[in-house]
Order: sequence, then structure tokens, then C-alpha cells
Amino acid sequence: MSKTIFVLNGPNLNMLGKREPGIYGGKTLADIEADCKVAGAELGLTIDFRQSNHEGDLVSWLHEAADKAVGVAINAGAYTHTSVALHDAIRAISPIPVIEVHISNVHAREEFRHKSMIAPACKGVICGFGPQSYILALQALKTITQ
Ligand code: DQA
Repeated sequence: MSKTIFVLNGPNLNMLGKREPGIYGGKTLADIEADCKVAGAELGLTIDFRQSNHEGDLVSWLHEAADKAVGVAINAGAYTHTSVALHDAIRAISPIPVIEVHISNVHAREEFRHKSMIAPACKGVICGFGPQSYILALQALKTITQ
């Protein structure tokens, strides 16, 4: 049976394609979802792909992942840098592995993006590879959940 991975996206990621294309590229979130589903099929993973601009939705979806998924890739957007609630939710669903994902290299940007509230609770972090960061996270989740 195919394993389910939740791919969760936080605030403003619904604006990809229009939003700062010099930083985030021209792909829309729907394009990234389609790429994740193709990669997931190749890896034998079922991809449940979601986006919300609301922190509480992301918290609830992490809780839901504990029952329905073997792993999570999360691009928490700006909540990465602020959210104790997401840190706690990721710890609460341990041992489900959660990988922090970013399209841009947050360490090469403004100083306020250098701090991640969620990274200490995550299995690992992938950033800076454009939309390919999502695919790398799926490959990592496939490997660590075998
Ligand atoms: C982002 C980086 C965050 O700092 C930013 O707030 C985003 C997108 C990325 O994918 O590069 O919304 O998570």
C-alpha cells in the first residue's frame, strides 16, 4: 500500500507565480503540487498537498498527519520564523518525521529569516533549491520512512 505524505504550505504561498518571481520563480503552487504528485507516484508515495494562510490550520493538519501520514514536508512560510505553536505541534506528533522546506535560501536573505522556530523540532531542513526543494524533501522522506 502506498504511504501518504502530507505536504503543508503556509501563508502567501498561494501567491507563488505572481509573488516576487525574482526570489521564488515563476511556478504557481498548483505547478508545484503537480510536480510533487508526479515525483510521489515515482517514489510510491501518495501526496496530500495543502495550503493555508492561517497558523491554526497548519497546527491541526500536523495533528491529522499523526493518524494519516508517514511523514510531512512543511513550507511554513513566514510562520517558520515566528511560530512556537508549529514547533510544539511538530514535537507533539513525534516520531512522525517532519522536514522543513523553503524555496529560497533563507540564510542568504534578511537576518530575520535566518532563525527558524521549527527547525529544532524537525528531522531536517531543505532550502534554496527553488521548487526542487519539495522534491528533495519527498526523496528524503521516502528514504527515512522505508
Ligand atoms: C519561504 C521563506 C520564508 O522566509 C518566507 O516568509 C516565505 C517563503 C520560502 O519558501 O523560501 O513565505 O518559506
